[in-house]
Amino acid sequence: MDKLIIEGGNVLKGEVEISGAKNSCLPIMAATLLTDEPCVIRNVPPLRDIYTMIRLLKSLGMKAEWSNYTVFVEPRRKQRKYLAPYHLVKTMRASVCVLGPLLAKLHKAEVSMPGGCVIGHRPIDLHLKGLSALGGEINIEHGYVVAKTKQLKGTRIYLGGPFGSSVLGTANVMMAAVLAKGKTLIENAACEPEVVDLANFLLKMGAKIKGINTHILEIEGVKELKGVDYTVIPDRIEAGTYMIAGAITGGDLILKSANLEHMGAVVDKLRQTGVEINTDQGNIRVKRRKELKPVEVTTLPYPGFPTDMQAQMMALMTVTEGISVITEKIYPDRFMHVAELNRMGAEIMLEGASAIVKGVKSLSGAPVMASDLRASAALVIAGLVARGKTEISRIYHLDRGYEAMEKKLSKLGARIRRLKE
Ligand code: EPU
Repeated sequence: MDKLIIEGGNVLKGEVEISGAKNSCLPIMAATLLTDEPCVIRNVPPLRDIYTMIRLLKSLGMKAEWSNYTVFVEPRRKQRKYLAPYHLVKTMRASVCVLGPLLAKLHKAEVSMPGGCVIGHRPIDLHLKGLSALGGEINIEHGYVVAKTKQLKGTRIYLGGPFGSSVLGTANVMMAAVLAKGKTLIENAACEPEVVDLANFLLKMGAKIKGINTHILEIEGVKELKGVDYTVIPDRIEAGTYMIAGAITGGDLILKSANLEHMGAVVDKLRQTGVEINTDQGNIRVKRRKELKPVEVTTLPYPGFPTDMQAQMMALMTVTEGISVITEKIYPDRFMHVAELNRMGAEIMLEGASAIVKGVKSLSGAPVMASDLRASAALVIAGLVARGKTEISRIYHLDRGYEAMEKKLSKLGARIRRLKE
């Protein structure tokens, strides 16, 4: 297993290119199961999760390959399969979003139930509720969701759970509804930019969807969808991660190919702390000149502060004088990074679903362990300013969602290298 070694203390400066959004690519790749025609998806970064989705599409009888930031998918009509096996689903929860497309297109699906998850309890009851409402007959058998239907039929579905809307739940139900007979209304739909991106992909395929970008989606089912050529949006979480990496070092960065429109809550909080964020000839400039101020952050569904930025924001607050409070309202247990940050000298206390962060003067490098994708990013950020050497193990988590992070950071002046093991 590879490790990252970081020598903290360098100020980040320069330009960084933001990759395509992983969380757009994955459901969009699943949506190619809805057509018999080839699809081309552009701006797809070479990430572990993308390769897992390619393997899954292949196991479902599709031809799928990644080359030069582009994914090509072509259905092999006679060889289509409807089984998403445990060994793939267990490595990537997003695999569950093949369920809706398989049920809509092939009228049957067997998809392994996703297993436990380190960021907390992650049920799929809303996905199943929506697909049942559309007329899917759904059973759980031997660890698999077994779904079948004669024909899905449009209906009215309320898709809210105890923590609000569901991103992949909305994706799954929307992908099923586009081929259902008649009209579907999804109430409390998620409206994250990645859900909007998927909806735009489906529109291009010939789907009829109204209310995109709102919490109520109105979908008129069509008989078939066509293959398309589509470019995914930039990754707002990767962009936010580099903003914080720059800010924590007192740096000056230009983010290229990022979209500030998708980052309102993150930009607002960073500005409150004293980070300067401006647009500069179509790029985003992030600069920090003064001491940072503590903030209160609560994660919420979009357009609220994203849970996928919570750990990185916490890393920034560890060295911000004063008391910051970070409350998690999407995954109340998503705090695996707290103990590791404390090992580096941070002073963070957990109180239910809130972390109380008392800013310290400096962090000190230590061997730490990555536990999930965003927690890993937080440890990298902390390592950039820690005194001495930080050694992060289990960075395969990082490779699931950040393209060549050590290369991008090195180019900005960080002393960071990958140790192959
Ligand atoms: N929930 C339910 N029932 C469901 C589905 C979700 O109660 O059937 C709850 C979850 O337990 C959670 C909340 O609803 O408390 C929101 O979860 P959501 O379904 O929106 O999460 P997801 O769709 O499984 C996506 C991202 C995650 C991101 C969340 C929240 C992808 C591939 N994953 O997951 O990204 O944290 O939305 O924004 O899009 C990451 O990239 O590191 C990552 C974990």
